[in-house]
Amino acid sequence: MAFCMVALHKRQDLIDTCVTLLNSEWSRSQSARLHSLEKSNDGLPYSLVMIETNNSQEEKVAGYCRLAKVVNQPKAVFIESVVVPTDRRGQGLGRRLMDLAEDHARCRGYTEVYLTTKDKQGFYEHLGYRFCKPVNTFNAQVLETCSCVFLTNTIVSENVPTPPAKSTDTIRSVKAESNLNDKCTSQASQVILESPSTDEELSCCTRTESKNSCESNDCEPASTPSALPPPPPPPPPPPPTSVPNVTVYWMMKDLYDKQ
Ligand SMILES: CC(C)(COP(=O)(O)OP(=O)(O)OC[C@H]1O[C@@H](n2cnc3c(N)ncnc32)[C@H](O)[C@@H]1OP(=O)(O)O)[C@@H](O)C(=O)NCCC(=O)NCCS
Repeated sequence: MAFCMVALHKRQDLIDTCVTLLNSEWSRSQSARLHSLEKSNDGLPYSLVMIETNNSQEEKVAGYCRLAKVVNQPKAVFIESVVVPTDRRGQGLGRRLMDLAEDHARCRGYTEVYLTTKDKQGFYEHLGYRFCKPVNTFNAQVLETCSCVFLTNTIVSENVPTPPAKSTDTIRSVKAESNLNDKCTSQASQVILESPSTDEELSCCTRTESKNSCESNDCEPASTPSALPPPPPPPPPPPPTSVPNVTVYWMMKDLYDKQ
C-alpha cells in the first residue's frame, strides 16, 4: 500500500467520493457540499485528499482534510474537516492523514498548524498537538470541523464572520466555551444558519406547500361561498428552550518540532 496527499482541485475525479465521505460524517446537502469542494484552488482554503494505492495500482480515497488561512499569521495554517472513512478508523489512517497534511503544509512554508475540536482532543494530543489560544481564521468551517452538529441538521454557513442581511435568515449564537481561555468565544461564538432548523423548515414547507396547492387547482373554486372557512394555520413551532453549549478546543502544533 502507498499513500499520498493531493490537492483535490488537481484530482477533480475524486470530488464525488469526498462529498460522500464528508457527508457521512457531517450531513449537508449534496449540492452545497459539491459547491464548497469545487471552490478548492491553489490559494487557501483548499482541500486535500489522501489516496491509498494498492499493489494493483487501484486507488481509494483514504482521508480528507482542508487547509484554511489564519488571519495575520502568514506562516500558520488552519486544518479542518479531518476525516477518514468510517470502516477504516482505528487502523492508523488518521495519523497518516495528519502526517501527510503537516508535511504538505510544511512544504508550502507553513510553520504552525492550528485546529479546533470538540471531542478528538485526545487523538490530536497523541499526535503532538497542544491546547492553545484561538486564532482568527478566514473562511474556515470551524464548527463543522469539530463535528458540532447541534439542534437539528443545521447547516453552518461558510462565511461565518458576515451575517446575511436577509431578514428571513436565522442567526443563532452558540457559545463556544473553552476551559483554557475565555477568548475562545471570539472565533466561534456566532453561527449563521443558512436555513431555519429542520422543524421550522418543515412547518414552513408545509405551510408553503398547502398555500401553493391552493393557488393551483386543488382548492374549492372561489365561487362557492358556502364552503367552510379554511382551517386555522398551524401554531408556530415553540422557540428553542435553551441555546446549546458547544465546547470547542483550540490546538496547535509547531511544525519545526516534527521529526
Ligand atoms: C479522528 C479520526 C480522523 C481519527 O482517525 P483514525 O484512523 O481513527 O485514528 P488512528 O487509528 O490513525 O489513530 C492514531 C493514533 O491516535 C490514537 N487515538 C485515536 N483516537 C484517540 C483518542 N480519542 N484519544 C487518544 N488517542 C487516540 C490511536 O490510538 C492511535 O495511536 P497509535 O498511533 O499510537 O497507535 C477519525 O476517527 C475520524 O475520521 N473521525 C470522524 C471525523 C472527526 O471527528 N474528525 C475530527 C474533527 S476535529
